[in-house]
Amino acid sequence: MSDCLEERRQRWLPDIREALELVYDDVDLLSRVDDLIRKAHSKRPAELKRRDRQRLLNPDWFQRESEVGYVAYADLFGETLRGVAERVGYLKELGITYLHLMPLLEPRPEPNDGGYAVADYDKVRSDLGTMDDLERMATVLHGAGVSLTLDLVLNHVAREHRWAASARQGVPRYRDYFHIFADRSMPDEYEKTLPEVFPATAPGSFTFDQEAQGWVWTTFNNWQWDLNWANPDVFIEFASIVLSLANRGVDCLRLDAIAFIWKRLGTNCQNQPEVHAITQALRGIARIVAPSTIFKAEAIVAPSMVTTYLGSGARAGKVSDLAYHNSLMVQVWSALAARDARLAAKSLSAMRPKPTTTAWTTYLRCHDDIGWAIDDRDAASLGWSGPAHRAFLADFYSGVFPGSFSSGADFQSNPGTGDRRTSGAAASLAGLEKALEDMREAVGDDLPKDHAGMTVWFDGVNLAVSRLLCAYAVIIGFGGVPLIYMGDELGLRNDYSFLGDPGRRADNRWMHRPRMPWDRAVLRNREGSLEHKVYSGMRNLIATRKRLAGLHAAVESSVSAGSDPAVLVVARRHPAGDIVQVYNFSEHRTWVAWDEIGVPVQDTTEEISRRSIDVGAGSIELAPYGSWWISGIDAMPSRP
Ligand code: GLC
Repeated sequence: MSDCLEERRQRWLPDIREALELVYDDVDLLSRVDDLIRKAHSKRPAELKRRDRQRLLNPDWFQRESEVGYVAYADLFGETLRGVAERVGYLKELGITYLHLMPLLEPRPEPNDGGYAVADYDKVRSDLGTMDDLERMATVLHGAGVSLTLDLVLNHVAREHRWAASARQGVPRYRDYFHIFADRSMPDEYEKTLPEVFPATAPGSFTFDQEAQGWVWTTFNNWQWDLNWANPDVFIEFASIVLSLANRGVDCLRLDAIAFIWKRLGTNCQNQPEVHAITQALRGIARIVAPSTIFKAEAIVAPSMVTTYLGSGARAGKVSDLAYHNSLMVQVWSALAARDARLAAKSLSAMRPKPTTTAWTTYLRCHDDIGWAIDDRDAASLGWSGPAHRAFLADFYSGVFPGSFSSGADFQSNPGTGDRRTSGAAASLAGLEKALEDMREAVGDDLPKDHAGMTVWFDGVNLAVSRLLCAYAVIIGFGGVPLIYMGDELGLRNDYSFLGDPGRRADNRWMHRPRMPWDRAVLRNREGSLEHKVYSGMRNLIATRKRLAGLHAAVESSVSAGSDPAVLVVARRHPAGDIVQVYNFSEHRTWVAWDEIGVPVQDTTEEISRRSIDVGAGSIELAPYGSWWISGIDAMPSRP
């Protein structure tokens, strides 16, 4: 059966050509790309070609309200890729349709930044399995209605990668794959405007390599060598990696640290226009060969910049399909700490709309630290100081701020800039770890039981669970693909065992990368257990989301604060029916008047609890950390 390869070439080659001409002065490049396209297409398995056709008929598949993501390390979730495939039932039970498995290609030996230092893109990490296992796992996932996301680490490779090894041996072709400088003069010039990513453990952005006899650009750790994307051979290498992963059944490629790939003197070497042109060219190639494969940008950059990764101007809709909504994550934590949603409303409503064919991935936690990306001007508009609020958030979530409910830790404190980021599991940051400690301190290990033998949890514990669920309700209801970070569905707390591991001790992001405790996961179905409390709440939010067509990502959410500053209102105006969400970011009961949120039109329902709302009362009453998703309403247009 024809699968329209020629039509797709005609459709996408002009976009590829335009982008390549902007970046590379190389007349042969397009024909090299076209060769690659034909070869990869001839090798594409028939089953994946069928998947391509299905998705071309459903181009909005990843924007739908039915999409829900899960993020896990393959070994920590299932031991091996086969083990992951065997756990697919667990994902189905929760309602998951998208699985991001953290880096699983062969890395350098530890330390390897959790796999983000790839030594071989053609090999799976040997303890996890083989490329064939990867293919088989993808097939099992697809059969269960789950798509597979893998990382494409494209800013750097491990110092041990064969390209870097050849560069170290002085092979000119491979020295050109990297940025290697004979002396400090250029590195010093660049460093005048370069921020440091790991100031505490890998200061600076260049590393002297004895063997290479030069200063190598290393934005992250000194064994992660930045690639020279100005070299067309590097582009061809990655185009080929993209297609080979797509041909194994990968549905989505997470473009790791994409903001950093283009270097320009006098800038912070992030978000350069060439980054978007290169993405457009790579995506065009994927659209031709493997149109069921999409791209997700990992660009943790200022809110004013992040929408460019989904495309703006002439690149609208031509770059990544998904991008992380970092600002939403930061604002949810900020509002919870401050019991004040006004900054969230201010910052989120200032963001530019994204192309209607794209979607955010929304998340509360991931494997990384949280950088307190608060815009100074947004803070000033409320009369707050940006630096002071950032310092407050770092203090609050590390737990040192008086009265803080959180148990986290500082990550990469930079005394030079005062910048501090935060590590910690969602449940610990939301107060569950502290509340449980308080309870155990009061009653010991002998937890009180009611007459039916159920544990009677202290109010503080229940409150922390409500706080976690309130935060996840925002993430699941916002529109876009919500990502559940492994273990959050069970309320897993920090895991301090990394401190005993010399390869990991220096990187406290490992505290929020626990191993899945399958024995405890069983408790998710035992009423009265803590795991059940969190899990049943999450599962209900997910099931509720799937019923609401108004959560399709093609429309934007508009965000405002209530007259009680602790209240956030998220309005979604959608032809299939408006949804207004109201969140209480405080431990106090509060009321929201109807005229703050919209006009009830018919059978007004609170969808999370499925209760119909008595609209006769002039206001709705929100419990501490209460979340309401209201349907049967004509949402208010967003207010200034
Ligand atoms: C991304 C990853 C992070 C890693 C970095 C360098 O930001 O999420 O874990 O350290 O890239 O690869």
